[in-house]
Amino acid sequence: MVRIAILASGSGSNARQLMAHFSGSPLAQVALVGCDQPGAGVLQRAWDMGVPSLLFSPAELRDGTLQHELASAGIGLLLLAGFMRLLPPELVRAWPGRILNIHPSLLPKYGGKGMYGHRVHQAVLAAGEKESGITIHLVNERYDEGKVLFQAKCPVLPGDDADTLAARIHALEHAHYPSAVEGYLKELPPAPPLPHV
Ligand code: GAR
Repeated sequence: MVRIAILASGSGSNARQLMAHFSGSPLAQVALVGCDQPGAGVLQRAWDMGVPSLLFSPAELRDGTLQHELASAGIGLLLLAGFMRLLPPELVRAWPGRILNIHPSLLPKYGGKGMYGHRVHQAVLAAGEKESGITIHLVNERYDEGKVLFQAKCPVLPGDDADTLAARIHALEHAHYPSAVEGYLKELPPAPPLPHV
C-alpha cells in the first residue's frame, strides 16, 4: 500500500478526485494533503474526506521541515495538484521518479515560471490556439520540465474565455489524473527505503 501525499495551493478539485479515487483502494491511499495557502479550499476538501492536512510556510518548504514531515508520514508518492511553488532540489532528489504534477496545457507549450491556472488559459487564447489540453509529468528541479507521462487534448472553441476553457480543462484533468496515477503506480518497482532528513 503506497502512501500518497498531495500538495496543493488552491481550490483542490483535482485533490478531491484523487482522494475519492484512492479511497478504499488496495493499491494506495491519500495519507496527507499539504498546502501552502491558509484558507485554500483544498484544506476544507481534505477535512470533508477525512484526510489529514498540513499547512506549511514557504520557509518550511525550503528548510526541510516539509520533507521531514513527508518522510515521517511514510509517503511513497507525491502528487502536485495545483501547487504553485517550485520544490527544493533536496526534496525532488529524495523521491526520485515519485513526484508527479498536472499542468493545464500541452507541455512544452505554456509551461514554466509564472504559467499557472488562468494565466495558462489566457496565453492559449491570446495565441489563437485551436486546441489545448493537459499534461501529467514527472517533477524535476525546474518548472514543468520533467518527463511527460500522459497528455490529453480538448478543443478551444470560438467564444471561449479563460473561465470556459478552464472548465473544459478541469473536466479533462478530473477524468484522467487519478487513472494516470494508478497506471503509473502499477508500473513502479517496490518503494526504496524512505529518505532520511
Ligand atoms: C489545475 O488546472 C492544475 O492543472 C493547475 O492548477 C489548477 C488547480 O485546480 N496547475 C498549474 O497551473 C501548475 N502549473 P484545482 O485546485 O481545482 O485542482
